[in-house]
Amino acid sequence: MCGIVGYIGDKDILSLLIDGLKRLEYRGYDSAGVALCGKDFYLMKTKGRISLLEEKIKNSYTNGNYSIGIGQTRWATHGPPSDINAHPHFDCKKEIIVVHNGIIENYDEIKKDLIKRGHIFQSETDTEVIPHLIEEFYNGDIFEATIKAVKLLKGSFALAIFSKRESDKLVAVRKESPLIIGLGKNETFLASDIPALLPHTKSVVILKDGEIALLKKDSVKVVNLQGEDVEIETMEINWSIEQAEKKGYKHFMLKEIMEQGDILKDTLRGRIKNGEVLLSEIKDVEFLKNVKNIHIVACGTAYHAGLIGKYILTDILDIPIKCDVASEFRYENPNINKDSLVILVSQSGETADTIASLRLAKNLGAKTLGVVNVNGSTIFRESDEVLQIYAGPEIAVASTKAYVAQILTLLLFSIFIGKIKGVVHKDFEEYIVREIERVPELVSKVLQENEKPKEISQKIVNLDNAFYIGRLLDYPTALEGALKLKEISYLHAEGYPAGELKHGPLALIEEKVPTFAISTDERVFEKMQSNIKEVKARKGKVFSIVREDFKGIIEESDESILIPKTHMYTSPIIAVVPLQLIAYYTADLRGLDVDKPRNLAKSVTVEWGERNGSWSDSFRWTR
Ligand code: F6R
Repeated sequence: MCGIVGYIGDKDILSLLIDGLKRLEYRGYDSAGVALCGKDFYLMKTKGRISLLEEKIKNSYTNGNYSIGIGQTRWATHGPPSDINAHPHFDCKKEIIVVHNGIIENYDEIKKDLIKRGHIFQSETDTEVIPHLIEEFYNGDIFEATIKAVKLLKGSFALAIFSKRESDKLVAVRKESPLIIGLGKNETFLASDIPALLPHTKSVVILKDGEIALLKKDSVKVVNLQGEDVEIETMEINWSIEQAEKKGYKHFMLKEIMEQGDILKDTLRGRIKNGEVLLSEIKDVEFLKNVKNIHIVACGTAYHAGLIGKYILTDILDIPIKCDVASEFRYENPNINKDSLVILVSQSGETADTIASLRLAKNLGAKTLGVVNVNGSTIFRESDEVLQIYAGPEIAVASTKAYVAQILTLLLFSIFIGKIKGVVHKDFEEYIVREIERVPELVSKVLQENEKPKEISQKIVNLDNAFYIGRLLDYPTALEGALKLKEISYLHAEGYPAGELKHGPLALIEEKVPTFAISTDERVFEKMQSNIKEVKARKGKVFSIVREDFKGIIEESDESILIPKTHMYTSPIIAVVPLQLIAYYTADLRGLDVDKPRNLAKSVTVEWGERNGSWSDSFRWTR
């Protein structure tokens, strides 16, 4: 994943592009570059972070006459990070300038062909074929030439392009990688994601797959791949600029953890009233009444939220509920049909495997429900039904606030569908709504008590391994706690169903391998107590994240962080908070780049390598 930005207008283009790139740096940060054009032309690109690009610019930039500019922050896929492989890329005459997010799958074929036709390539990237291919068609109209070239490209991509000969135009292309146009007064912006646009405008056009836009400073024209005009839909963003800034916190991750109490209030707003769950966004209530099975599909942290949804729905409903990681779901026989509901959980709404699962589900006739943060994202737009989680912009690569908002949304949905199916009765609904209403305050309370997580971080910072265990509703929390720790602190951590310990992992427990025991599910707290004893008997240290009234667990543990007593459906939202803090403080104590962990980018919008087709393709081959 990479971040791209573009601008046409009269402001200081260079500082605008650099600011935009910084706001997108979470999307990739191994190289960066910008190109500006007007009467003058300036291009600078480098391996390394945007800060290095700024230094190089300081030593080389002189004011000039510029009317357009594009920039990119890269996450290498084809060709390692280097000055040459950094974007922008250009054609033989250095006239057509391109930045790209995504993968061109047939670049090798195109490149060989272009080389035969005399083109000379500088880099090892897939991107560089694009300006050379456009060059083949270019006779003074960059928009027309791009339309012709794009038809020959396979893969997923978002592009920003200009020609030095037409310095009043930017061309933007979207195919399976997000791209948003920002509309200003006598200025037009382009960016891969909303945070880059927030300081300038809230009025946006979200390009759809296969759309190509011609941007001028006072107009936008959009066509499809056939070159036919497409009607432009403008929408207003309701995120504020403050939400996308650090507000004095050392890292975005800490800020995003700390704001979770407020975020949860936003998730709830308008959805509970007089002891009732109201999801007025759901259009086809009749379908829910008759739905025969539910599949939750997601990746990473969103998958862990999905697992909690699965446990709650399984508890409430009497139909089969499954939860799968999207990269598996999309290639197996999903066993879904027109009576199935497939719930896609995704913060970004742009994760490639989750999108593929959504499309597969639709092809097989299932009803789809997106549980999404980003308004206007692909999953938001393509799902039959959408529940937005209202977590605001999440910038840190490690997801925190979106996770709690996803769980809360899935919980609301579980109660809602339970009611429709006649299995959640008024008394229970009123009771659970009271518990749900307490959640934002309880999360804020746990956040205020952040000394204990800090102390525990100091105890594990120099260790190499950790286990996280839980049962039933606490099991996904164990998985999520382990994922948070490993992805930002690089300390090896495994999440396990506590009952599985004795089937293998117990062999690894010793003094220097701590276990985090999560225990809030009242159905199994005695079982957890036995599991903790098993660990203690192998001299393992136990840090428990435990409901305040589970005395037995507290007594068995070396140290405990107490979670206020609440219903087991709401506990996972609260219990994950200290685990997020422990991961954060451990990574920070280790001096790591918490917001941008190595080898990871915020959302995985492309699938690396050639596509092998989805289950529906293989189905046709095998039967
Ligand atoms: C981990 C993390 C990832 C994402 C996953 C799905 O902290 O952030 O595991 O949860 O890549 O991303 P979305 O939710 O955007 O589909």
